[in-house]
Amino acid sequence: MTAHQLERCLSGLFPNSKALPFGSSVNGFGGAGCDLDIVFVYDDAEVSTESRLVFQSKGCGGGGIRSQTQRQMELLGDLVQVFLPGCSMVKRILQARVPIVKYTQEITGVDCDLSLTNMCAVYMSELLYLYGELDHRVRPLVFAVKQWAQACGLTSNVPGRWITNFSLALLVLFYFQRVKILPSLDALILAARPEDVKFVDDINCTFLRDVSKLCRSADDSTGSKSIAELLCGFFDFYTKFDFATAGVSICTGSSIIKPDYSPIYIVNPLERSLNVSKNVSPEEVERLRVEVRNALWCLEGGGNLPQLLLKGGTTAPPIQHHHHYQRAMKHSRMVTVKDLFTEQS
Ligand code: UTP
Ligand code: MG
Repeated sequence: MTAHQLERCLSGLFPNSKALPFGSSVNGFGGAGCDLDIVFVYDDAEVSTESRLVFQSKGCGGGGIRSQTQRQMELLGDLVQVFLPGCSMVKRILQARVPIVKYTQEITGVDCDLSLTNMCAVYMSELLYLYGELDHRVRPLVFAVKQWAQACGLTSNVPGRWITNFSLALLVLFYFQRVKILPSLDALILAARPEDVKFVDDINCTFLRDVSKLCRSADDSTGSKSIAELLCGFFDFYTKFDFATAGVSICTGSSIIKPDYSPIYIVNPLERSLNVSKNVSPEEVERLRVEVRNALWCLEGGGNLPQLLLKGGTTAPPIQHHHHYQRAMKHSRMVTVKDLFTEQS
């Protein structure tokens, strides 16, 4: 309803437009009350051959695509604010890499992130959704990992130099591929049928959509693993993973040699030359490593799972060379320099 309201409102201006939900509210990895990501696609190529009149939107002006998108988003924000019943708290975030308009739809009770013509993100959500369909343990594990990351302060509602839920979901999928529960994206591409061929500009978003058509060999050794065992396995896998030299790619389902010096490298499955976790700072990767290790320690030592998911677990014995740093960071993202040099009591 929230997306539909926007679509109906703008359909007079843009006859072929669509407001498509994407992200965690539709990919199967969202919790109750998560934000709704919406992309407004106004320049749909489907042209009716019955009409002699063809809708065309204005081409790119002199200022380049980016400033044009910013102007359009600004206007979209105004339309939402001025005309749409129930929509309030409109915030325009136009300087971001992907300019967005945030607003709250008070009638449906949904917080929205609206962006423009980024169909790639919709196909990405479709891909994550399909992976969730392939094995019943995928969604609970992604959910548990998101919950754990939130509990120990690895993720935040505001964007910044820390890991996102999207990157975490890819880490979980990669782990499932390593233990042979999920197929690689390349396997889904290989199995694609003519109706699956999709391009967004020159980005190839082709992969098998009807996953019931996928031939998979039943692997008994992993088929019986419980979600709790897999959660332990996830933490064990990433405790041993060498983030310094290796990157994660769900395309091949195997680790890659990092092509640059980013502290953590997770291949964007649809644009393979990009790193989806490029934003993450070295300090946050260190924190991730520490917390993954803590979690494993917590679970292996008799494991209090509810505590791990609600409070982020207890701290494992510190890694020697970093212990002051770690202890200071445990409580907040901001490190007080003084705390780094105080003796541990
Ligand atoms: P979000 O950052 O909102 O993530 O990106 P999310 O999956 O909805 O998770 P939460 O619950 O809000 O934290 C929305 C979608 O945008 C696409 C993915 O499909 C993601 O699910 N996306 C995001 C990309 O394609 N590339 C990126 O680098 C980031
Ligand atoms: Mg989202």
